[in-house]
Amino acid sequence: MSPIRLVLFLATLALASACGTRFTCDAKSCPTGCCNASSGRCEVGNTAEQCGANGATCSACSAGQQCSAGACAANGGTGGGSATGGGAAGGGATAGGSSAGGGTAQATTSFYRDVLPITQVRCAGCHRMGGIGPFPLETYAQAKPMAAAMKDAVVAKRMPPWMPDNSCGGPFVDDRTLSQAQIDTLAKWADEGAPEGNPADAPAPPGPVGQLPRVDATLTMTEAYTPSATLNDDYRCFLIDPALSGNRFVTGYDIQPGVAAEVHHVIVYIVDRNAARTKDMNEAGPGWTCFGDSGLQSPGPIGAWAPGTGAVIFPSNTGIQLTANQVLAMQIHYNTNNGVRQPDQTAIRIMYSAPGASPTAAYLLPLVADGFAIPPNATNYSYSETFPNPTRALTIRVWGLMPHMHTLGKRITIKGPADACLVDIPRWDFHWQQQYFRMTPFSIPPSGSLTMSCTWDNPTTRTVRWGEGTNDEMCFAYVYATL
Ligand code: HEC
Repeated sequence: MSPIRLVLFLATLALASACGTRFTCDAKSCPTGCCNASSGRCEVGNTAEQCGANGATCSACSAGQQCSAGACAANGGTGGGSATGGGAAGGGATAGGSSAGGGTAQATTSFYRDVLPITQVRCAGCHRMGGIGPFPLETYAQAKPMAAAMKDAVVAKRMPPWMPDNSCGGPFVDDRTLSQAQIDTLAKWADEGAPEGNPADAPAPPGPVGQLPRVDATLTMTEAYTPSATLNDDYRCFLIDPALSGNRFVTGYDIQPGVAAEVHHVIVYIVDRNAARTKDMNEAGPGWTCFGDSGLQSPGPIGAWAPGTGAVIFPSNTGIQLTANQVLAMQIHYNTNNGVRQPDQTAIRIMYSAPGASPTAAYLLPLVADGFAIPPNATNYSYSETFPNPTRALTIRVWGLMPHMHTLGKRITIKGPADACLVDIPRWDFHWQQQYFRMTPFSIPPSGSLTMSCTWDNPTTRTVRWGEGTNDEMCFAYVYATL
């Protein structure tokens, strides 16, 4: 795959994800903060842009006002005057209610003793304030009104999201699957009326879940950028300088979109500092226009963000190398269809290998199976391609696989030599895409190969082929590999 195609692929990946949010928050799901009507997510409710409390719809404060305790107040004022911070949906008030049934004789489950040990590890990585889940599930007050929805979601296995069939290539690192006993516990707790139990039974908080264990650099856009007032899709690149004094290996990253309601994808390319500076200076305003890719030569990205992506931690003792004369070009696709057009300052948190450590250099190898033509109205149309070891001379160690299709995809499978199963996503879901890292690498000998197979339904009346648009399809994967 040429670098251009690689870049276009990533753009498409994120572009198509833009249709994002399916869950819409309400007073029940945001008992503490406010519900952002455009993104469908709970906000903390303490910023002038997203102000509100008790599950009310977030609203922006008027010019000159600030948000204090969930209400808009005159700047410097001490509260009062909740001018625009609507108190509309006050349902959240019941959240901490005492109707929990904690005292009923039949209750055998308790939030602190039985539920929290599961949710703090399996849910709160996403369902926390500022996480990618639309509402937080960190405290009893937050979880109680969601008990029935939590039961439904775990019994139906929609939550926690986990796409691969673990019998192929698994178990993977950070597998989110719940055991049947855990599902039963959450279901029973909901059935018993979400009893609270005794806070003293709460488990010790786990280490960071869904976050980097260590952040060595937080690199934020140097200036805020307000998306174009005329374009609904504004692609802009920003120079992010890690200012390294020598070679370092990126061992993990976590991209933090600034205004989540308008940031629809982020791709972080490695580029040359001087070239990026020239590009930046040649255009007015922060950054430069960059449809498709960064507009500069790049050995590839260190990573990407799209809805559904959390912190990415590369397998231990591996990393993607950055040299002292390289910087990052952070490409952001702003989509403002929903009317949100606010100044954005997206950031990337980076974890580097320890100074002096010499991890094994990793590469993202693209697999492109692009020779398909899915006939109109086809069901279960399948296509496979086999990719010989590109080095032909060296053993490649495969650590991670990130399969990718668009929205017509049904299934994608990657196999190694002798039909060894490496990853199988039996029910493809466009909204959940990530690298699946193996516990131990899988070796492909010089003469070995990988075979990728994709299956689609095509409900349209046109032949669907490989392409970058959301209405085109892909059968693609990134293989995170070392030599
Ligand atoms: C990897 C991130 C992630 C994890 C882990 C996760 N969720 Fe979610 N959850 C989301 C996102 C994002 C949505 C909204 C998108 C959607 O509706 O699919 C969501 C939606 C939901 C919903 C509402 C929609 C539905 O499908 O019912 C419930 C209820 C829910 N999650 C419960 C849970 C519970 C309980 C856990 C843990 C056992 C959990 N989630 C773990 C990210 C996550």
